[in-house]
Amino acid sequence: MHLKNVKVERLLINYKTLEDFKQFQAYGNQEISMFEDLQNEIVENDSESPFYGIYFGNTLVARMSLYKRSKKYDHYFNPPQDYLVLWKLEVLPDYRNRGYGKKMVDFAKQYQLPIKTNPFNESNEFWEKMGFEAASYNLERDFGENPHIWMPDGVREALQPPESI
Ligand code: COA
Repeated sequence: MHLKNVKVERLLINYKTLEDFKQFQAYGNQEISMFEDLQNEIVENDSESPFYGIYFGNTLVARMSLYKRSKKYDHYFNPPQDYLVLWKLEVLPDYRNRGYGKKMVDFAKQYQLPIKTNPFNESNEFWEKMGFEAASYNLERDFGENPHIWMPDGVREALQPPESI
């Protein structure tokens, strides 16, 4: 399905967005603390919203958190580089299977940086369709996670540290 006129936009940090988030299943601490910070006026100057979404009319139907992590913390890619962390991707149930999820992932890919996500197991197939692959498991790095990665041309997965004998 083609979603020509659909636009992914950066969400404003305000109470309307917080209300919109309540419709999403994975509504939780991260959003709440972000809004508490705002309320307490201790948001740092550079705290741009990490959330992006798609509106259908006035309804927020898809959202994700997307932010850049510095190369200093890169244990996934070779050569080490800045990469994007994508999480909390969710499309409201009534709007699934219409291409909104793909639209969100394509938006992230356009930056041409490698992307890491940590999907719920039941969405692995979606991520594979989006060109993501399961990162080779590294117990120390991935404990409790199920990292999936996408790499633009020229980027490879970081070599794993040798196993200790
Ligand atoms: N399992 C397997 N394939 C899936 C899938 C799933 N759960 N969800 C979508 N797909 C496929 C679609 O059939 C489509 O395939 P096609 O290109 O061959 O037609 C392709 O993936 C793109 O689908 P799209 O319509 O863009 O996906 P969506 O808008 O329904 O969004 C999710 C997909 C996973 C984001 C959505 O189902 C969702 O919000 N799920 C609950 C939360 C979740 O699991 N989030 C994942 C991050 S933790």
